[in-house]
Amino acid sequence: MSKIAVLRKSGFRPPNRREVLGLALGALVPVRAQQVETHQATGVRTGEVSSTSAVIWGRRTRDSLRRADGLVRKGQRGTTLPVEFDISSLQGSCPGEEGQLRVIVRQSDGKKVHDSGWGSAGAASDFTRQFTITKLRPDTAHTYTMETRAGAGMKVDGVLTGQFRTAPAASVLAPVTLAMMSCQKYSQTDSPGGFLIYDAIRKMQPHAYLSVGDNVYYDSDDPVVNSVEMARYHWHRMFSQAKLVECLRAVPGYWVKDDHDCYSDDCWPGMVNETMNPFTFEQGLKIFPEQVPMGPRPYRSFRWGRALEIWLLEGRDYRTANPTQDGPSKSIWGPRQKRWLQQSLTASDAHWKLIISPTPVVGPDRANKKDNHSNRTFATEGTQFRKWLAGSSRGDTFVLCGDRHWQYHSIDPETKVEEFGCGAASDSHASGSPGETPRYHRFHRMLGGFLAIQVLPEGQSSRLLIEHRNVAGEKVYERSYPREA
Ligand SMILES: [Fe+2]
Repeated sequence: MSKIAVLRKSGFRPPNRREVLGLALGALVPVRAQQVETHQATGVRTGEVSSTSAVIWGRRTRDSLRRADGLVRKGQRGTTLPVEFDISSLQGSCPGEEGQLRVIVRQSDGKKVHDSGWGSAGAASDFTRQFTITKLRPDTAHTYTMETRAGAGMKVDGVLTGQFRTAPAASVLAPVTLAMMSCQKYSQTDSPGGFLIYDAIRKMQPHAYLSVGDNVYYDSDDPVVNSVEMARYHWHRMFSQAKLVECLRAVPGYWVKDDHDCYSDDCWPGMVNETMNPFTFEQGLKIFPEQVPMGPRPYRSFRWGRALEIWLLEGRDYRTANPTQDGPSKSIWGPRQKRWLQQSLTASDAHWKLIISPTPVVGPDRANKKDNHSNRTFATEGTQFRKWLAGSSRGDTFVLCGDRHWQYHSIDPETKVEEFGCGAASDSHASGSPGETPRYHRFHRMLGGFLAIQVLPEGQSSRLLIEHRNVAGEKVYERSYPREA
């Protein structure tokens, strides 16, 4: 089939003037701020921040900016393109280019604390490189420059700068602010240059943001992913949007994956979605930690001073197939992760313990869903864990989840375990709620937004504040928990 015929059949077309200008103007902002031509159209990302370490992600691209005048398709029709299709002709593409990267990290007082030296980045890693920075000072502001060049001895391209603050040491009572979001669907982006919530989060200046699943939608945003390169393109066009680039230069993140940014809706190891052939679940597992700085462990916890510890859970790698009959051996987390979660929760002396789950543990959810602990299909593990949590926590542990496309605060009628759902990233992506359910819900809102989480020291104790915010960053609900002596 000719290229034109393929395009006509798939519905892709050149963008109109408005689409080019809208996206191009959005994309030009950060580069003007940078003043020089960079080769980092996909930005920089800082992740896994602890009191003494961080991981910084960079990628060398052919151009300074995402492609604004490439082919677009509106609507969601589940279209695939031939595997050999030239992805660089699509709008938002950011082809990588062979080269080297180096990161230099300084404390806010100017003292250089890390120089990674030059390291190469090629096609095997999608031209990305991740630098693990250790021996940092706790509770300290850091800035960094990510440099690129074509090869040894070549001139350095324009740099990108970024910043982060290390966590306070576990013995220190200090205020902490986090933002948490999920479900950013590219076809439901609510503003030229990216999602409005990234502006709101950047202005809020949290210590970190948590993107807890569905960072991209491989199976339901066009073109549907059918190759490793198309999967990478989904990441490139998402994270090269100006609002995301600007926010992630200023705010470090923790990334957690869910079904759509791993493979396909409600997926498990070995599941096959025929439309996505020859792309596989296993390929999806490898791409996620290539595109975000998440370190080697899919599940992990981070301490933020005396008052706060967060647990980031993995819900796809170890999962029993959803259609398997429910029972004691059926699991979303797998035995090792569950043991680690329960042991480390018990051992933690943090004032507040937040379990960050890509999917609900409490719910409620629609009756026909088969993917999470609030569904009948995983009822045994769900019931068991909620009971265990109610018995072992002292009102200091909460579940914060992504995945569901409505914002809510629910309390399990049986165990009183509390859950906050952050909702979808944009208003137009909100949908699918079972409706407000008074037996569970203290708050229910079917619109987009994110969670703002604060821990505030009060004498030798502290208070936990959890707010739902709308896409503009305005508070729509809040819950405040004083610490019991
Ligand atoms: Fe989602």
